[in-house]
Amino acid sequence: MNRSVLFSSMLALTLASPLAQAYKQGDIIVRAGAIMVDPTVGDSSVSSTATGKIPGGKVTVDSDTQLGLTLSYMIRDHVGIELLAATPFKHEVGLKGLGDLNGKLATIEQLPPTLSLQYFPMDSSSKWQPYVGAGINYTTFFNEELTSARKAAGFSHLNRKSSWGLALQAGLDYMLTDKIILNAAVWRMDIDSEATARHSDLGRVKVDIDIDPWVYMVGVGYRF
Ligand code: NI
Repeated sequence: MNRSVLFSSMLALTLASPLAQAYKQGDIIVRAGAIMVDPTVGDSSVSSTATGKIPGGKVTVDSDTQLGLTLSYMIRDHVGIELLAATPFKHEVGLKGLGDLNGKLATIEQLPPTLSLQYFPMDSSSKWQPYVGAGINYTTFFNEELTSARKAAGFSHLNRKSSWGLALQAGLDYMLTDKIILNAAVWRMDIDSEATARHSDLGRVKVDIDIDPWVYMVGVGYRF
C-alpha cells in the first residue's frame, strides 16, 4: 500500500467513523440532570371580593432546582418526541405592592410534564447534536401551604388551578462516545395560573400569575 492510499483510507476512516454516532430512527435517548425552573412572572394581579382589583398588587415566585429527566424517541432520523419529567419543584410565593400584605404568602409544589416534538438538524457525522422543539406543557400544583403568619392574619383555604400551555425548547447534545452524551437544554413555558384564598376581612382573595418560566437543564444522557 503506498503512502497516499494509506493516507486516504485513514482519512476515509476518520470521516466515516463518526457516522455510527448519529441519532437515527428508533433511537431512545435518556437524559438526567439538574433542572431549574426560573419563573419570570411577566404579569400578575391581586383582587378580592371586598376591594376588587388591588392597584399595584403583584405576585413573586422564586426559582427552584430539582432532578430532571427527559426521554426522547426518534420517530424518524432528525425528528424525536420528548417527554420531560422531574422531581417536584417547590416555590415560595409572595405578594408585593400591597403595603401591609407584602411578603411571603405560601409555598407550593408543582410538576410540569412537557411533551415536545424535536428537530435535530445536524448530519449524522456530527458529534454535536443541537435541537429545537415545541410542545405542550401541563403543570399541576399541589401541597399548597399558607405561611403560619398568613394563617394568623386571617388567610385560609388556598387553592390553585393547573395550567396547560405551549412550551418551546432548544438544546445541545454532545456525544462523548457512541452511547454517552453531555446535554444542556432550555425551555420557555407558558404557565399561567390562578390562586384563591379566603381572608377574614377581604373575602375571597384571587391572585392571577403568568409564571412563564425559563427552565434550564444540564445533565448526562445515554442512547439506547
Ligand atoms: Ni403566560
